Amino acid sequence: METVLSGIRPTGNLHLGNYFGAVQNFIKMQEQFNCFFFIADWHSLTTHPTPADLHNNVTQILAEYLACGIDPEKATLYVQSEVPEIAELYLLLNMNAYVGELERTTTFKDKIRSQPENVNAGLLTYPVLQAADIIIHKATQVPVGKDQEQNVEIARKYARRFNNMYGVECFPDPHPFNFGENLIKIPGLDGSGKMGKSDGNGVYLYEDANSIRKKVMRAVTDSGPTEPNSTQTEPIQNLFTLMKVVSSQDTLDFFTQAYADCTVRYGDLKKQLAEDIVAFTTPFKEKIDAIKADEVYLKKVVDMGTEKARASASKTLKEVRNIIGFKTF
Ligand code: TRP
Repeated sequence: METVLSGIRPTGNLHLGNYFGAVQNFIKMQEQFNCFFFIADWHSLTTHPTPADLHNNVTQILAEYLACGIDPEKATLYVQSEVPEIAELYLLLNMNAYVGELERTTTFKDKIRSQPENVNAGLLTYPVLQAADIIIHKATQVPVGKDQEQNVEIARKYARRFNNMYGVECFPDPHPFNFGENLIKIPGLDGSGKMGKSDGNGVYLYEDANSIRKKVMRAVTDSGPTEPNSTQTEPIQNLFTLMKVVSSQDTLDFFTQAYADCTVRYGDLKKQLAEDIVAFTTPFKEKIDAIKADEVYLKKVVDMGTEKARASASKTLKEVRNIIGFKTF
């Protein structure tokens, strides 16, 4: 059975783009594959969160994953920092990772630009830690967005380098997994491009109704159709795309027709869209709050994830130690 692995840095809440784009696919994948979903809290230290933020962010994303339907019995859902085997593999992989190649990675170059005051060594070796995350479970499929493909390629390079160096076939090739047609691309509210946390154009699963309403009412539109059946501009297409995923067919048909015959009022459309998004996200928000309040359940989930992840990781690490020459006495 194929092993699938995905990590998320605990730096922000899930937005609708994450939900429809990736998380819904994870829910399906956990039924068919050996899935590892984890929270990359070590990776998040590269941006120096406060201790309180770090803990809250990890708890939040955990509760969000659970509220979305990631099943800790089916998938291995864990917190990276609970699995020390990953840190040991990271140390070992660092010996075969070259500073020059790390300096050339796109994400590192981007970070130098975005946080020039904090170019720490963790940022440089970020892809090495990510490679350890991936290959410690011998994952072969890594669902990632375009921006993370290079990091998966680096993981593949380090897996092969290790195999070649010792003449073994310890690690299988990890590949970036593209959801292809199953990936619903959710646009942002700013008229162009997709929803993203850094763009500030997103609506979160965990967001107050009034905040959602305000954001949607401020969404970019155009001056309106002047001829019947004219094609929609990108900002309008985007609002309809959002409507497609959260509104009823009747609502969608009504506004599609109103656009086609030029009677559409964007204010009404946005009001309806806002209410439909609120209706969609409210049950998630309530579930997330309930899970966060249930410390016993959260502890149970984390303990179970840690146990499963450590069992898998220590099995690989034992092999690796032996291959390198750390024989047991
Ligand atoms: N670097 C990823 C991101 O920023 C998070 C991540 C860490 C990850 N380790 C991983 C993703 C392993 C996939 C596999 O989005």
